[in-house]
Amino acid sequence: MRILSLGLSNVNEPHALRDEHAIDPRLPSLPHGKRAIDLIVDFLACLWDYAKHQITREIGAVADLDSADVWLTVPAAWDARGCQIMRDAAITAGLVRSAHAGDTSWRDRLRIITEPEAAAVHCAYLTELHKLRPSQNFMICDAGGGTVDLAVYKIIGMLSNLEIAEMCARSGANCGSLFLDLRFRELVRTLLSEHPAHLDEASLAYFMHNFSETTKMVYRGELDDNTMFNFTCFNVEDTDDPNVGLQNGDLTIPGNLLRREVFDPVVQQERFASKINVISRPPDCDTATLRGAAQYGLARRPLVSSIIAPQSYMMKVKLPAEPEDQLKRPAYIRTNDAGVSICENRLQYLVAKGAILRKGQRVKHKFCKFSQNGQDRMFVATLYTSDNDKIMRYTDEGETVELCKWTVDLSVLPSFQEDANTPQANGFYTEFELGLELDSAEVRGILIHAGQDWGHVVFDFRS
Ligand SMILES: Nc1ncnc2c1ncn2[C@@H]1O[C@H](COP(=O)(O)OP(=O)(O)OP(=O)(O)O)[C@@H](O)[C@H]1O
Ligand SMILES: [Mg+2]
Repeated sequence: MRILSLGLSNVNEPHALRDEHAIDPRLPSLPHGKRAIDLIVDFLACLWDYAKHQITREIGAVADLDSADVWLTVPAAWDARGCQIMRDAAITAGLVRSAHAGDTSWRDRLRIITEPEAAAVHCAYLTELHKLRPSQNFMICDAGGGTVDLAVYKIIGMLSNLEIAEMCARSGANCGSLFLDLRFRELVRTLLSEHPAHLDEASLAYFMHNFSETTKMVYRGELDDNTMFNFTCFNVEDTDDPNVGLQNGDLTIPGNLLRREVFDPVVQQERFASKINVISRPPDCDTATLRGAAQYGLARRPLVSSIIAPQSYMMKVKLPAEPEDQLKRPAYIRTNDAGVSICENRLQYLVAKGAILRKGQRVKHKFCKFSQNGQDRMFVATLYTSDNDKIMRYTDEGETVELCKWTVDLSVLPSFQEDANTPQANGFYTEFELGLELDSAEVRGILIHAGQDWGHVVFDFRS
């Protein structure tokens, strides 16, 4: 189990499933002949066997596990592709199966929910404990083995009819508890570099096990700077060396050294206590995700269905000049070929910061491009983001960051092809829509024409 879970941390991040080089080199390598996905399938199959066994033992044959909904939780920052890989693995592992003849929709019984979503539902149900009120924000911190994941939610609507909106969900850096273990092993290796008798794999594993199961759990930070921590050596046949803390078969390491070399470098990556009013650790936090996922499943409606735009998304556009533009930005005003005064560098908001959208909801805006001829087919949309709550009018107002230049090829559109093939002395206009979709892991742009999708692009992996 331990090796498997270590192996799974290798693929904690879905990018590692697609690109094996993306795996952190400090983690153990995969068993020979196994791909990351095989490991996940094997792991899920074992886990499911065990779960079925336990459920049947506890509640007997009452549960028809073959026709049950199965909820699988995935880390916060997984994108649609990552979730699909996990879904396929779970189906291969047999978590859901056809329960009777004609059961064609059995795959739909496998449901996926993100870990912080599930934990958020659980926390919101514990309102007595957390004193949560409608419109309040709360953050879920999931300090795991591989990563520390943070997600911020807001309670919208009434508590009695729970509805939660996601403000932000990110998988943090690799600063999970496993990295403490790895740093500890490095420290032992350095301390005992003159004592190779203690540096074989078994000895190092023994030190590390001691650290990870005992010292790490009781360590209190600066309070322990003067505490001496003892670690029994696996190999007892070696000389004492008080200079490095080696005495009577024990390796002694002072707390301040552990802090400097092991804890601080990992812990300092995530500090937020000064910014958060109330921090609580529910007594059942180890099962919070499971309980929340079950509550989510039983509610039979999406409890975390909305997303609050974490920033504004704007596009640079040219618009007919208004008196305000004559006053504020005369330099931006040009007269176009048709003799109309146009103001350049105006911002069109696609989504304003703080807007509440349904997950995956498409926000559309109409655009129009003038083409001289059929070669003139590229529309370049320059997208900006801003963290500012203020709605800005021009691209030069500061506090905007250029996100990307999104090049849309209009020649895929039938109306463009038709116009391009009809010789027209004065060129032609093409009308189309650009849509934006936000979900936890990515922002997608879509080219829409006559109610149909003609292309899409992912331009913001929100991690
Ligand atoms: N009091 C503690 N102090 C430090 N680490 C702890 C403590 N209690 C548990 N851990 C560590 O937390 C880790 C287990 O956490 P958890 O089960 O949430 O990880 P995970 O979900 O497998 O990891 P990830 O979410 O990164 O994939 C183990 O590495 C364990 O040693
Ligand atoms: Mg976890």
